Amino acid sequence: MPSAQFEDSTSGDTNIFGGNAKARTRCTQPMVNSGSLNRFEHQDLTPVIGTEFKGVQVNDLLNGDEQFIKDLAVTISERGVVFFRDQVVTPQQMQTLCERITAAAGSPESSGLHVHPLTEAGSELGDQISVISSEKQKKGGGLTHQLSDVSRFASAGWHADITFEPVPSDYAMLKIHTLPATGGDTLWASGYEIYDRLSPSMQKFLEGLTATHDAKFFLEEAARLGNPLREDIRGSPLNQGPGLQAVHPVIRTNPVTGWKSVFVNKGFTKRINGVTKDESDLLLNYLINLVTQNHDAQVRFKWNKNDLAIWDNRSNWHCATYDYEAARAGDRVCSLGEAPFLSLTSKSRKEALGL
Ligand code: SIN
Repeated sequence: MPSAQFEDSTSGDTNIFGGNAKARTRCTQPMVNSGSLNRFEHQDLTPVIGTEFKGVQVNDLLNGDEQFIKDLAVTISERGVVFFRDQVVTPQQMQTLCERITAAAGSPESSGLHVHPLTEAGSELGDQISVISSEKQKKGGGLTHQLSDVSRFASAGWHADITFEPVPSDYAMLKIHTLPATGGDTLWASGYEIYDRLSPSMQKFLEGLTATHDAKFFLEEAARLGNPLREDIRGSPLNQGPGLQAVHPVIRTNPVTGWKSVFVNKGFTKRINGVTKDESDLLLNYLINLVTQNHDAQVRFKWNKNDLAIWDNRSNWHCATYDYEAARAGDRVCSLGEAPFLSLTSKSRKEALGL
């Protein structure tokens, strides 16, 4: 469904950078929040990122009006991450919720829920649910989301999910059901805000660049675990094989908000293309320092049992905190969106909100 605002370059619109036409967004213009969720108690946790809802079960939203799901998608994309306390939602209901949110947000028909390349065939809750478990990790098994385990810097773990896939994630959700008495917080940071902190000249320069994202380290991880890497379709026909590498625009438009965001991350982005290796290292270091060193672009969430977080991976990063000994576990679902693109006519968050 071609659109006036987000049309692909293969249709002749030179205002678009990137965005494989085989996985194009169906969101033809930024979505408008109708305010249907305002009836529930909620609070913005910081000016730029994070909103917490209280006294509402996501299952009630699932069983309610479709407008709830649309507004939830917009709220997540605008606020970066939303939190729901004390949820009874099951892993299968999380799967349904994630499918409904991504569909409401206009993800391409070919995009489904992601299957992580390290997911064992026949795993306990099915291919599309990742079990996060500190106990499994201690025993050397399970999915390794702990990207910071070789560094003395807790900030080494900042990433956006699965950006090594040609069609990466739009939304992801995590419910923590087992947790230590203290510790194990998760942090999120806003890519919209980081874009807004760049000078206009730097914004313009980065808008002409792509970056290579790579997760070849999962090949070693699969060998270590003794599991074959998942080379079959991982949620999109464009995500398959052992490549685990993709090229994406450095600045990307989120089709739901229409806002620009920085789209490189410490976990997976190895190289900014079209510049020397030294220049690439400098630029990546600078951009990543903006993410990790600006605590006013971040929100830190203290989990209680059965809390649920849902975030937009297109425009945000997150980082777990490994400061605990007791068991911590939860379930995680991740949907795929569009192939990343930049609409040169899209706006920054501050510009769009008149800030
Ligand atoms: C993740 O990186 O998706 C997991 C975050 C966490 O365990 O806090």
